[in-house]
Order: sequence, then C-alpha cells, then structure tokens
Amino acid sequence: MTLIFNGEQLAKQKALKLKTKVAAYYAKGIYPKVAAIFFKEDAASALYTSLKKQTAENLGIAYQAKAFSFASQVEEIQEYLESLNTDSSITGIIIQKPWTKKWLEVVPNGDFAKWWSSLVSHIATEKSHGVNKDVDGLAPATLDAIKAGTWMEDGMVLPATARAVLSILKDYRANVDPEFSYLTENVLIIGQSDLLGKPLYWHIKNLMKKGITVPSNFGEACQVSVAAAQNSVKKCEVKLVGKKGFEEIIEQKKSLSEFRVIVSATGQKNLLNGDLISSNSVLIDVGEPQGDIDLPSCLNKADFITPVPNGVGPMTVISLMANALDLLKPVL
Ligand SMILES: NC(=O)c1ccc[n+]([C@@H]2O[C@H](COP(=O)([O-])OP(=O)(O)OC[C@H]3O[C@@H](n4cnc5c(N)ncnc54)[C@H](OP(=O)(O)O)[C@@H]3O)[C@@H](O)[C@H]2O)c1
Repeated sequence: MTLIFNGEQLAKQKALKLKTKVAAYYAKGIYPKVAAIFFKEDAASALYTSLKKQTAENLGIAYQAKAFSFASQVEEIQEYLESLNTDSSITGIIIQKPWTKKWLEVVPNGDFAKWWSSLVSHIATEKSHGVNKDVDGLAPATLDAIKAGTWMEDGMVLPATARAVLSILKDYRANVDPEFSYLTENVLIIGQSDLLGKPLYWHIKNLMKKGITVPSNFGEACQVSVAAAQNSVKKCEVKLVGKKGFEEIIEQKKSLSEFRVIVSATGQKNLLNGDLISSNSVLIDVGEPQGDIDLPSCLNKADFITPVPNGVGPMTVISLMANALDLLKPVL
C-alpha cells in the first residue's frame, strides 16, 4: 500500500521544535530577524513572501519585506542589500526568486541569469562579509560550498527546498522504514535548477562518494546513515537530469524502474506515471502549483508519495525557518 505524505502535519511538528529553539535564542539575547525583498509585479512572489512572513512571525522570528520593481536599478537593489548586510539586527536575507520563464523578457537585457546573479551575489556570506546571512542557500558562494561538500563546516545552509526533501526522506526512514536510506538507493533527480536539483544532487553525490561525517548538531535533515552507505554492498548512484536527459532515459530504458527514489521538480503536469516507476519507489513531487506525478496511477505501486498540494510546499517554508535559525548557530 502506498503511504501518502502529509506535509502540513510534519511542518507543524517541526514548527514546535523551532519555537523552542527561538526561545533558547531569546534567552541568550539573540533575536532572529529576516529581511526579504521581492518584485511587486510578480503576484506569486508577493504571496510567498506574505506566507513566509506569517510562518516566521508565528515562530517568533521577525520578518520584514520590501518590494522592488523589475524596473528598479540593479545598483539601487544592491545598495539596499549592502545596508542589510551591515545591519547587525538583520540575521538573514532572502531575495524571493521570480519565476524565470515568466519574467525573462522584463529583466535588464532579457538576461535573467545575469540579473539574478548580480543580486544574489550581494547577500553576505562568511567569505564576503565575515557573517553569513544567506538563508535561502542561493548565493554563489553557498552553492560553491555545497558543490565542494564543505557547506556544513563553512556554516552554510542548503536551499530550503533541498532541505525539505531530505527532511521528508529522513522522516520516512524514522517512522516507516528504518532500513531505508537514500544513500543506499539509486536516486533520480529531474529538474536541474539552483533551487533544488543541483544542490540536492551535489549534496547526495558528495555523501555517497566521500561518506562525509555529519555533525549531529548541524541540520537534522542531514543526519542520515552514512555508515550504512559505506557498508552497503549495493552500488548506488544519484543522477541529475533536465528535459533532454530525462527523454534519453525514457527512450533507452522505457522506464525509471532502476531508481527507487525519484525527486521531480519540473512543473510538468503528469510527467511521471505508474507505468514508469518501480513497485517500491519513493516519489517526491516538487512541482507547483500542479504536481509532476500522476498520483492515481502510482497508488498501490509506489511505497511513498508526496502529494501536491500538502507535500513538499509546507516543508519548504518550515525548512527556510530552520535555515534562518541554523545561521545563528555560530553566535551561540
Ligand atoms: N514545492 C516547493 O517548495 C517548490 C519550490 C521551488 C520550486 N517548486 C516548483 O518546482 C518546479 C520547478 O521549479 P524551478 O524553479 O526549478 O524551475 P526551472 O528553473 O524552470 O527548472 C525546471 C527544470 O525542469 C526541467 N524540465 C522541464 N520540462 C521537462 C520535461 N518535460 N522533462 C524533464 N525535465 C523537464 C528543466 O530541464 P532543462 O534544464 O533541460 O531545461 C529544468 O531543469 C516548478 O513547478 C516550481 O513551481 C516548488
């Protein structure tokens, strides 16, 4: 029988733990405060920002948001980011990423990647400013550290959606199948953006390759059985694909049955169905607002599915809050 994950339920449990952490910071005179910026023309960004603000404030994390326009001068936004970097009352910064395809034409010269990089690279990281305020884990320095496998010792955090996915897999292990570890299974990640696919792939690959020792106090999502992976006799791999890579697998193998864990983040409705998956698969659907997975056809075949809505979404928001608190660990 397939277990359908309940994102809101797990997010509520996590929220209780985070409230305790916030209280511990308060007791030490440390007050977490996140500053977000978003682009007002993008209605989805405004909505996500208000949802994050509500969640943060419920936990006791102060959250301020400032709207810019796509017409705003890049220099003006960079200047504002620098003022947040040097403001010691601000402990974390978020730039709400607008949806690439929709705004491609609007940003200066139609070069979204360049425009985004010129902003996100101005968020303070340990290397650039001696203090890390990159709550989203999307600054180039953070992504470099994730790729190199040094992010934990560098005091950095994984992008929230990647952390959410790892948290869900860990919860499945803890509550359903103690034998399960994504380090001892073949893992397929579909969708190769900075928000999820790439950092998740780098992280899992590094763990599988090097068997990194995970400090028990840093990011509970990462406490997986590395020892189990090292002792495993199974030869496992993690694979990251975009559209072309996905089509090639389907063309050559006709199915995805060699992968027990599949994380899909494409926004393509019903990209995956019951005919493509193996009978004990663990399926994580990151697609929004519509899921990538055709849930009815996978029922009673997969072991585990995260639905849309009420799957990865609520866990992403709570993971972002966990990130905001993890950034403060070096101060404690
Ligand atoms: N639940 C959450 O918390 C959360 C958080 C973030 C994003 N999302 C959702 O995740 C989805 C992806 O977001 P994103 O920002 O990563 O988008 P993105 O930057 O546009 O990336 C989409 C990725 O999907 C791949 N892709 C597109 N069509 C495909 C197909 N037919 N077969 C296989 N791969 C295909 C693309 O491949 P190429 O690289 O080859 O172009 C690309 O790598 C969206 O639905 C978004 O709303 C959800």
